[in-house]
Amino acid sequence: MILLAQLSDTHFDLRAHNTERVERVMGYLAELPRRPDAILVTGDIADSGKVEEYEQARAALRADVPLWVLPGNHDDRGNLREVLLGEPASYAPINRALRLDGLTVALLDSTIPGEGGGELAEQTYTWLTDLLRETPADTSVLVTMHHPPLPMYSTVVDPIRLANPDRLERIVAADDRIIGVLTGHMHSMGATLFGGRQLIVAPSIASQIGGIWEVGAPGQVPIDYAPNPALILHTIDDRRLTSILRAVPMGGWIGVQPE
Ligand SMILES: [Fe+2]
Ligand SMILES: [Fe+2]
Repeated sequence: MILLAQLSDTHFDLRAHNTERVERVMGYLAELPRRPDAILVTGDIADSGKVEEYEQARAALRADVPLWVLPGNHDDRGNLREVLLGEPASYAPINRALRLDGLTVALLDSTIPGEGGGELAEQTYTWLTDLLRETPADTSVLVTMHHPPLPMYSTVVDPIRLANPDRLERIVAADDRIIGVLTGHMHSMGATLFGGRQLIVAPSIASQIGGIWEVGAPGQVPIDYAPNPALILHTIDDRRLTSILRAVPMGGWIGVQPE
């Protein structure tokens, strides 16, 4: 069984609120008796893409298991690359593959620099096609990116979801190795089907955004900074993806109460 922890939308902004929430979640993960095989952070790492925000993220996202990030619309490809990946600050899409025993995770860059909405660039489709070509037949694949490719009943996020998702949907539907698609951006947990596979949207560590049913008048943003931060624990077992939401309390004990 492979165990992946998915965090999303940490929005490091040089203030304490979001950092404390990430530290609490990372503390929870660090003390699990069964450690995750990897931690994924699905975008909006920084709130405004500043170098200092990535330095804050680098300090808070320390882990003794592999931790992989992909960019969101609030990120800056150049600064993220330089500070978090230790690479020269290029502005090309950040597409990377995490390979575990029996599982390949494709981390796609769905951002359009300077815009809130997303779209996969031609270069990213080529990268994904090449990755799938070189992935063994018996390996499961997870496709991960920041922007959900479908409307999720959010007045905030639906207008800036992934544009033109049909091409990706065809790739997902045609490849039995792809067992799921994981995204962030929505600041709420969501689950539906995309290309016949599970689409799981992770909540934000920083805040929660409510659905269309919470909006009473145009322009209202149903955002809540108070709920406990939450992550998703994904297991991959015999080609089956199971996704479990875990809220981590900001105060008190995490897990079993001591006697
Ligand atoms: Fe976000
Ligand atoms: Fe976002």
